[in-house]
Amino acid sequence: MTRFRVRASGPLAGRVQPSGATKNAGLKQMAAALLAPGVTTLRNVPTVRDLDVMIDLLRATGARVDQPAPDVVRVDASGELTPEAPYELVARMRASFNVLGPLLARCGQARVALPGGDNIGSRKVDMHLRGLAAMGAEVEVAHGYVVARAELLHGARTVLEFPSVGATENLMCAAVLAKGTTVIENAAREPEVTALATFLNRMGGHLLGAGTSTIEIEGVEELHAVDSEIMADRVEAGTLLMACGIAGGEIELVGVLPEHVEIVSMKLCEMGMRISPTSDGLWAFASRRLRAVDVATLPHPGFATDFMPLAVAVMTVSEGSAIVTENVYDGRFQFVDELARMGADVRTEGRHAIVRGVRRLSGAPVQASDVRAGAALVLAGLVADGETVVHGGEHIERGYSDLAGRLRSLGADVERLDD
Ligand code: EPU
Repeated sequence: MTRFRVRASGPLAGRVQPSGATKNAGLKQMAAALLAPGVTTLRNVPTVRDLDVMIDLLRATGARVDQPAPDVVRVDASGELTPEAPYELVARMRASFNVLGPLLARCGQARVALPGGDNIGSRKVDMHLRGLAAMGAEVEVAHGYVVARAELLHGARTVLEFPSVGATENLMCAAVLAKGTTVIENAAREPEVTALATFLNRMGGHLLGAGTSTIEIEGVEELHAVDSEIMADRVEAGTLLMACGIAGGEIELVGVLPEHVEIVSMKLCEMGMRISPTSDGLWAFASRRLRAVDVATLPHPGFATDFMPLAVAVMTVSEGSAIVTENVYDGRFQFVDELARMGADVRTEGRHAIVRGVRRLSGAPVQASDVRAGAALVLAGLVADGETVVHGGEHIERGYSDLAGRLRSLGADVERLDD
């Protein structure tokens, strides 16, 4: 069990480099490495708990995985693979489902456990399955597993009902070795999707349009293993901007692309922060109490749902009231009750949270329910009297490699404790 102990420490100051995006970008490229019979090397992949799950999963399929140096992961998929993702691993991490497309494309069949819901809501996979069926796969769901078979996938046009990140990624991976052209309409435009497409192209794939709503994939006969550098974690960057917003101060983020946190920066500026691009990242400044503003989450380039809990934390001590609307998940407000235990004036009505800013929070023991909820509680602790102990720190560590260390380097009083 891991806890984060936080004490108020005044304005933040300093320069910090967010880590590589292991959870939302690195794991996807590890899964896609199964497509190439060779040794793929991924760099800038710091250790988070979900990385261990993906390593176990790839090993279960027969790939050899090692970490020859810090932040480097090597996937050797040269041998024969067993196209199976067992329930024990998929249940621990939804990104496990990303092996479905690669295994089906490489092996002609795959048996992958259904992920089910989690602490942020029900999380279906219908669009993944419909897309694969359109490409000629025989897809069956039975006994908690998806079983897909296709001697040879063929290109197809698929329109996603919602721009799902996972479905876009699985379909890109399946289509890259299919016969003919696949078009994914209403594709997700998240930077991590673009990063995966770039990775597949470097492996010899022909993908066009990633980053827009229409992705076109011309299938190729085979792919080769490559070296890849994982992008900086934009959610961690946004988390640090929010930390500066709530605690005040002046910070510089190094190695971050401003457009990856554009809407978050825009909202924080509307609230009274100053944020501007530098030669290698972003500068952020908050000198006084921020003003609350309404926020509604949307797929990229809208305000990402992963920033929502952090935004609610910032609003709890802002001036005025705000309505925060969650449009992506149906159960992402669990953390609100924990903020209320810290003295926040916040309540939920269906998809909305209504936050009335108070001047100060009160440190308390609280429980993290998911990765971003946990980070939001840590940020709340930065402006709470006394001590806040965030239990369930393992949730935070699913996605952040060293949140406490990053915040400490900016002068915050945050410590990670292991039981
Ligand atoms: N959905 C369906 N059917 C599908 C696929 C998705 O109904 O076939 C629904 C989901 O139930 C959900 C919504 O569509 O309500 C969005 O799901 P999406 O597929 O876009 O999300 P994901 O690929 O499962 C990734 C990130 C999430 C992030 C979302 C949205 C990873 C490992 N996870 O999940 O990250 O919230 O995209 O941007 O990349 C986080 O980092 O905290 C996190 C949860």
